[in-house]
Order: sequence, then C-alpha cells, then structure tokens
Amino acid sequence: MAKTNLSIRRVAGALGAEIGGVDLSEPLDNGTQDAIHKAFLDHQVIFFREQDLSPEAHKTFARRFGPLNVHPYVRGMDGHPEIMEIIKEPEDKLNFGGGWHSDMSFLAKPSIGSILHALEVPEFGGDTLFASQAAAYEALSHGLKETLSGLRAIHSANREYSAKGQSAHDRKSMQVAEAEGLAGEYSHPAVLTHPETGRKALYVNPAFTLRFDGWTARESKPLLDYLFSHGRSEAFTCRFRWEKGSVAFWDNRSVWHYALNDYPGQRRHMRRVTVDPA
Ligand code: SIN
Repeated sequence: MAKTNLSIRRVAGALGAEIGGVDLSEPLDNGTQDAIHKAFLDHQVIFFREQDLSPEAHKTFARRFGPLNVHPYVRGMDGHPEIMEIIKEPEDKLNFGGGWHSDMSFLAKPSIGSILHALEVPEFGGDTLFASQAAAYEALSHGLKETLSGLRAIHSANREYSAKGQSAHDRKSMQVAEAEGLAGEYSHPAVLTHPETGRKALYVNPAFTLRFDGWTARESKPLLDYLFSHGRSEAFTCRFRWEKGSVAFWDNRSVWHYALNDYPGQRRHMRRVTVDPA
C-alpha cells in the first residue's frame, strides 16, 4: 500500500487544483483515497502530473469512484470497452470534445466524472479549458435563480453524434445505439444540486442541451444562449496545459470542458475513462 503525502495547489479562483505526491498506478490507502475524493469535490477538477497508467491501472483508479461507463457512440479501446481513445492525427481537422460540454448529460443517468490521461501531447496547443457551472450559477441574480429553479432541460446526443456532428468521426452507428435503447432525449433539472456537496450548479450545456422541458426550441434559445455565454465567462474558468503523463479528473455534475483545437499538423493521444453514478 503506497503511503503518500499529498500536496494540493489551486490553479484558479473558480475551480481547479493540482495534486502532487501520489502515484495513481499504485494501490491507494484509504486516507489518500479520501483526500483525493475531497479535493475532487472541493475543486471540481483536479490534475496530476507524471502518471504512468496502464489501461488496467487507469480503470482501477476510476473504479474507486463508481462503475465505469461504456460510451454508447464511441468505440472503446480494443480489450477495454470502458476506455475511449481520443486521438487526433496530424492530418485530422476536427478534434473530439472541441466545444463546451459536460460528458454524458444526454443519458438518463449522466456520469459523475471523467478521468483523462495524456499519452502523447503536441509541442504547443491542445490545452483543455474547464468552466465551473457552480460559480456560474452563484453569480446569477436572485430573480434568474428563481426562474431556473422550476425548469428542467432536454438533453440529447443526436446533434453532436449525428453524421455531421463534431464527434461523429469514431462513433458507433446511431441505429445501433437506438436499438440498444441509448439514444433519445432526457430531461434533467436546469439547476443541479450536487448529490455529495449540496452545492448548486447550472446543468445545461451547449453541446447536448436542446431546449427547456415544455418549451419550444425557439422559446428556449434566448435564455439558453444567455446561460451558455454566461457559463463560459473567463472568471469561471481554468486552463490545463498537458504534458505526457498528466491526468485530469473533472466533475461532470458541475463542470464544462472544452478541448482546444489549436495544434494543426501535430498528434495528440489521450485515454478517457468515465465514471457513472453508483
Ligand atoms: C473530452 O471532451 O473528453 C476530451 C477532452 C480533451 O481531449 O481535452
């Protein structure tokens, strides 16, 4: 059992902390596990450096937080269906995750968090942005908070993972997903009370939220556009510069993220494991 002495350094005002002093490929003692879990809840996204994670070790670490998701539209790694390989080749134009979103909000039971490990990073560019939707919610007026408190929103993967979608390049066919009962529209509260911390956060995102429940898309657009623009305000964000071996673990219940596509002609190779609610 690895005995560790964690260091925690915040990286921005709204969210994000870098954790040092732990090797995630080793079995973790309960104290270390609890400290990592607390940092995850306190900071919403946590970062680690110089981690050498095999696919098995990546999954073992992720399983400490809940069951693992198998993505309904993206083929998993050979032999490891729970691991998504996120690869942009030098000749690729589109990148995966290149827009603000929270992972898997299009499912009936959205994921709690995602753990991304960098295997190969470009010499420059390829950072990931994160935005705290808890901080975004807290900055709203009392009046808008009141309005949102009664609203639910409809989420779906159909736009993002359709043939023309940003993330369509390595998807399973929608027909297969529909046959498996995974495609469709799901309603979630527009403001989510975090089940572990009780902190409220906006729970709509530009990639997967289509409209408010009971409203038309046209009626929903002005308010959704406002929330999408508000939610990405600089004050609610942090930015992570990847190195080979870096790991980011973010809370999909209160954080959006955005993979920058600013490294033409270079290769970037990441692996993601997504954690479902228990
Ligand atoms: C994702 O959206 O999960 C990808 C994030 C990244 O590659 O930085």
